Amino acid sequence: MEMIRIVLVTLVVFNLVLVPSKADFGFHFPFFGGGSSPDPPQDDNQATPAGQTMANETLREDFYIDSCPDAEQIVSDALTDIFKSNPNSIANLIRLQFHDCFVVGCDASVLLDYSKAGDKVEKSSMLNGQLLKGADLIDDIKAKLEQRCPGTVSCSDTLVFATNEAMTLAGLPRRKALGGRRDSLVSLASVAERNNLPMPNWSMDQMLELFKRKGYTPEEMVVLLGAHSVGVAHCDTFMERVYDYARTGKPDAALPKKVANEMKMQCPHAGTPQFRNPPVSFDETPTVLDNLFFKNMVEKKKTLLITDSHLIADPRTFPIVKQMADDQALFQRRFVEVMDKLTSMNALIGTDGEIRKTCRSSNN
Ligand code: HEM
Repeated sequence: MEMIRIVLVTLVVFNLVLVPSKADFGFHFPFFGGGSSPDPPQDDNQATPAGQTMANETLREDFYIDSCPDAEQIVSDALTDIFKSNPNSIANLIRLQFHDCFVVGCDASVLLDYSKAGDKVEKSSMLNGQLLKGADLIDDIKAKLEQRCPGTVSCSDTLVFATNEAMTLAGLPRRKALGGRRDSLVSLASVAERNNLPMPNWSMDQMLELFKRKGYTPEEMVVLLGAHSVGVAHCDTFMERVYDYARTGKPDAALPKKVANEMKMQCPHAGTPQFRNPPVSFDETPTVLDNLFFKNMVEKKKTLLITDSHLIADPRTFPIVKQMADDQALFQRRFVEVMDKLTSMNALIGTDGEIRKTCRSSNN
């Protein structure tokens, strides 16, 4: 399995040498303008049924029952503590989990600070950068696990246990997470940038293509995007919609005036030195995984990101959004199920990878 991963990463790197970079395709950053993407690349990973890895081995509950029986409790206590002073930690972790799993697999590659060959790591990719938060929280939690059970609980399981706890703190029923993942030895920004992570100005076709390539139905994509029920988006990622949509100099016509005015007030001084790129909550309950995000879409046509706005505009996804907006219990049940699938993507198991001592660097 490890050999397959090494070959895969090598192929990806080699391929990048042969094809033009994203910038050559008219890809701009930050998020104003651009947004086109090249033809779909090969799969870098694909979802398997929840709990099942590519090698058909299974992750399991109570993986640490003998080696570190309190592992989940330690994570839970640590995050509960963090949450008291940092309520946005739960959103940080859920996003971090997504960005880990969609790039090759749930292997904590997103947490590495260095690559042995000196290449840029996922963390420093333009798609992650300063807006991807939570790695420091995993450091704190992992340190507590190391104190009690040295060299036992992987960073990828630490992240999954923390995300599971974050979902509980955000109001979902408490449940045991699956364990048994190991940590990758590699992390490459170039792989993250190879159409494995979405951009907030993508079209619906681009979003559907990415999620389909990773093994998700449109319904599962909508449910996962319900994660935008928690946390924030910084003005940089969406204010094009109110100031200069698609370089027209006008607001996005799909935005009701009231919503556009509200967004302008939340993102003042755009284009001046006084602009501070403030964070704006996706909905009015940024620490609760409820269906308000979907309700706001349906009832007020209120969305921050362009990609989220496609969910109500597109007939392929609108009926699913409506279903989620009408039935909070359905959204919460499906969110847990699809997150199980997400957190099982391409896990490293058995003797593949390693159990890192610190999540920022591999052991040797
Ligand atoms: C088309 C797909 C997606 C796009 C384009 C997208 C884009 C973004 C952007 C631009 C932000 C704002 C970041 C910031 O300004 O700090 C954000 C935040 C967030 N995203 Fe997504 N996202 C997508 C899918 C997902 C999925 C599938 C999940 C999880 C399962 C997720 C979880 C989150 C969370 C929890 C936040 C809030 C983070 C925080 O407050 O720190 N997103 N997303």
